Amino acid sequence: MQNMVVKVKLELAARAAVQAVRRKDLIVVIDVLRCTSSILNAFANGAKEVIPTRTLREAHRLRESHPSFLLAGERRGVRPQGFDLGNSPLEFTRQKVSGRTLIFTTTSGTAALIRSKESDWVLIGGFLNAGSVASAALEIAEREEIGVSLVLSGRKGHFSLEDFLCGGAIAGRLLGTNVDLSDSTTGALLAFRQVKEILCETIMTGEHVRNLIDLGFEEDVRFSCQMDLLGNVPAYRNGVIRLLA
Ligand code: MLT
Repeated sequence: MQNMVVKVKLELAARAAVQAVRRKDLIVVIDVLRCTSSILNAFANGAKEVIPTRTLREAHRLRESHPSFLLAGERRGVRPQGFDLGNSPLEFTRQKVSGRTLIFTTTSGTAALIRSKESDWVLIGGFLNAGSVASAALEIAEREEIGVSLVLSGRKGHFSLEDFLCGGAIAGRLLGTNVDLSDSTTGALLAFRQVKEILCETIMTGEHVRNLIDLGFEEDVRFSCQMDLLGNVPAYRNGVIRLLA
């Protein structure tokens, strides 16, 4: 099994998650700004579990039946009315989230997760855990004899620069092992290599970032661009995200 070649694909839009599910691939969902970065920081600060929902309504309903759960997320980038937390990774402090279950709904990131939910293996990826998510994905893919799909959440179904570069960063961590990269994965890797010394500055030129900066979230962008700051690997299974055992 050690010599098995792991095929790595990169899906440029979240709607293609269904193809990754059909291939029975392990999926790494990436939404650097800011959904997966927020999830990663929540777990780094002791969150117990995160339950993604597609709609605000579902989120509110779930909270009605579980009043101790925290409501977190965004619409149009900002905290929806009645929510405890928005979607700033920096808001997910130990004081707020340690030991807690979070209900989480965002415009694109949680939608990409939910599109991936039929897969046996869905991991949460970002720059923050690029190295650890790559190692975990490879280990599972070799063991289960399956491929890896990096699924970019993008923004409202469209391509996003930061997710593409992050796909490249994760792909870079897989090199040197028995992997076979698709052309889109190689493209992302080449792009990442080109800008890795000026990663944050490059991401700052992206379309979504400009919107976040206008809303006052520049620090979120700087935080989310940090490579390997966190070593955790959350996994989404049976509707709930927990740290990989
Ligand atoms: C999303 O899931 O659409 C993003 O996380 C939006 C945001 O940055 O708030």
